Amino acid sequence: MPFALLGRSLLRCGARNDRFLRLHGGSAIWRCQCFSSENKVEENSPVTPMLKHLLMKIKSTGPITVAEYMREVLTNPVTGYYMHHDMLGEKGDFVTSPEISQMFGELIGIWFVSEWMASGKPNKFQLVELGPGRGSLTQDILRVFNQLDSLLSKCDISIHLVEISPKLSEIQALTLTEEKIKLIDSSPAYMQGVAKTGIPVFWYRDVSDVPLGYSFYLAHEFLDALPIHKFQKTEKGWRELLVDIDPETPGKLRFVLAPFATAASEAFIHEKESRDHVEVCPDAGIIIQKLAQNIEKNGGSALIVDYGHNGTKTDTFRGFCGHKLHDVLTAPGTADLTADVDFSYLQRMAQERVAALGPIKQQDFLKNMGIDIRLQVLLQNVKDVVTRRQLLQSYEMLMDLDKMGGRFNFFAFLPHHRLVASDKLKSHHSTPVAGFGELLWK
Ligand SMILES: C[S@@+](CC[C@H](N)C(=O)[O-])C[C@H]1O[C@@H](n2cnc3c(N)ncnc32)[C@H](O)[C@@H]1O
Repeated sequence: MPFALLGRSLLRCGARNDRFLRLHGGSAIWRCQCFSSENKVEENSPVTPMLKHLLMKIKSTGPITVAEYMREVLTNPVTGYYMHHDMLGEKGDFVTSPEISQMFGELIGIWFVSEWMASGKPNKFQLVELGPGRGSLTQDILRVFNQLDSLLSKCDISIHLVEISPKLSEIQALTLTEEKIKLIDSSPAYMQGVAKTGIPVFWYRDVSDVPLGYSFYLAHEFLDALPIHKFQKTEKGWRELLVDIDPETPGKLRFVLAPFATAASEAFIHEKESRDHVEVCPDAGIIIQKLAQNIEKNGGSALIVDYGHNGTKTDTFRGFCGHKLHDVLTAPGTADLTADVDFSYLQRMAQERVAALGPIKQQDFLKNMGIDIRLQVLLQNVKDVVTRRQLLQSYEMLMDLDKMGGRFNFFAFLPHHRLVASDKLKSHHSTPVAGFGELLWK
């Protein structure tokens, strides 16, 4: 079945209640606003349990790296930001594309099916989503798989979710499964269930626990939540930024520069670095190495969707709370912390085991995947004015260059052979991979 027919099969799916208007009628914040850790500390910063924990830690062992600060604040098992509450949507701190419209996940679902077809329809594949939030993206992808049942019915499909948060994994299970079974501790998966369409779903805390094999990896707004190290170029060489207690105000935190070069500043700065401030996310590098090794050996692909740059930006560390920007050192544990993804670093970490495509703007990817036609079909099937307006607003939020369409990027890793274009595609200056080149409907 050619790519265009895949899209047409999807057109038979109607509109679900689009999620957008539950989100502040369009004023909700998304996490790629320009902001940096240099913003002023708010007055009367509340003493949160996390702040108490960090003050104790720094008092006993000295200043900590920004990576350690971020890891504690976001994923500490007791008081970490991600661990015990739902931060997505109207009552949360920010919105994401899968929460805005079903069209987003549907087109990504089509992308994976088209990659599966292009690699000769293997009889088994697994979809691995990293940091699945509420499970909405996988839910929309599963609806596409179900719609394309005539094509996929003989394929053994399983879903693997890498999620550190007990609270969010509960929400994902409610979204995706009829019933779930908690597994015993010795199993690499900490939870298992069966999706409403009969596909098995497994949960893991770490990507290393996910079985190997032909895999489609998906990371939407995941890598930006992983801990970064921050480095500043000084007259004495590169120095790492640390988080310390402000001696003027003992209950407050501040950034300081390490007096000497650290192991991290020696190891992580690229020899050709020309910026004077650099953020490095080694955890993202380790994950990409694992994905690249598996794709090289067993096939599949990885789709990474996030805000980021190609090794050009400097200070992008920022926080969000209640749909507002938030100072990163204030009331730790109550706000999301994030930093832009460096796609050039990810590509270096893949070590040429796989080919990289992108980053390209979200607007271009979704357009190439046929979002305009999908929107028209949804609009044709909807008569009431409110739902039509919701659909148009969510389209605009996803596609506008000043909104998510311009701020988010799509980046893919694929086996090298997937980038060998046919003569027909070469004459159209297109790539053989859907989404990353103009759509050829014939
Ligand atoms: C910003 S949210 C994005 C959620 C979802 N992908 C979306 O776009 O709506 C980040 C997700 O990654 C999860 N997460 C953060 N750090 C993680 C880690 N170290 N390991 C596994 N999951 C993590 C969070 O719990 C959450 O599900």
